[in-house]
Amino acid sequence: MTLKGKDIVNIDDLSLQEIETILDSARRMVDIAKGRKGSNALEGKILASLFFEPSTRTRLSFETAMQRLGGGVITIAGQEGSSLIKGETLADTIRMADGYSDIIVMRHPREGAARMSATFSENPVINGGDGAGQHPTQTLLDLFTMREKFGRIDGLHVTLVGDLRYGRTTHSLSLALARMGASMSFVSPDIIRMPDHIVNDVKELGVEVNMTNDLKAEVPGSDVIYMTRIQKERFAEEEEYLKVAHSFRIEQGILENAKREMIIMHPLPRVDEIDPSVDFTSHARYFEQAFNGVPVRMALLKLVLEGE
Ligand code: CP
Repeated sequence: MTLKGKDIVNIDDLSLQEIETILDSARRMVDIAKGRKGSNALEGKILASLFFEPSTRTRLSFETAMQRLGGGVITIAGQEGSSLIKGETLADTIRMADGYSDIIVMRHPREGAARMSATFSENPVINGGDGAGQHPTQTLLDLFTMREKFGRIDGLHVTLVGDLRYGRTTHSLSLALARMGASMSFVSPDIIRMPDHIVNDVKELGVEVNMTNDLKAEVPGSDVIYMTRIQKERFAEEEEYLKVAHSFRIEQGILENAKREMIIMHPLPRVDEIDPSVDFTSHARYFEQAFNGVPVRMALLKLVLEGE
């Protein structure tokens, strides 16, 4: 098995063995990610970090990951910072970045943009989020966070909450969790429920999902509650957004019946779906989860650029 030279666009581009390899490697990267140890493993390599949609965590953690391993970074942050604004096509932009670098990570508002870009790039392309499509590297760090807490994914019950229609992190994550033997509840208002194709894929893997809008009822049975933001920017009409805005909020009161070991995760950014007082409970895991993006993306960059 080798990940060398591989495009990572959807989570299904990775076998279970490849996912395990990345998570194992990430564990060995933690000291370097924290700056306790140095590494020149990717010296001389360049990452093109192309973010045509806003990002804090994904862009900064990829760029940190590359630099912690001794590599260099070139970056576009926002379409207005590139010649796309002059009418250059995405295909030509990708061809340029491909020539200037060894690997591309990209985020784009259009679903399918990363897959299309991979056809124009000789070097590997990693999807840092494509519209309401997928976010596979977020899934890797989510799995890493769960595995570090529980030592396993198999047998966990994960409750995904919020904008499951546009929330690309939940699309990639639910497919991976189903393959790894976790059960799930999908909690959302009906108009932003999980897309049918994802529900069908999960069911085909033999996993029953409970689809509901009653978050409180799901708390006692959950090992992980995975909150998400309602993605205002993806609604065609503000009126539709307002119908579901502020649908769910985790506050300390709702946690009274939670398992002691239950963890709350969130890909972030959050708006108002987790009360800040929850940050100080033993359940909160979202800031550690965001940090885990660094070792996980270090592992991925090294494996895709260098192999084992
Ligand atoms: N989780 C995540 O994708 O965050 P950013 O949008 O800040 O990259």
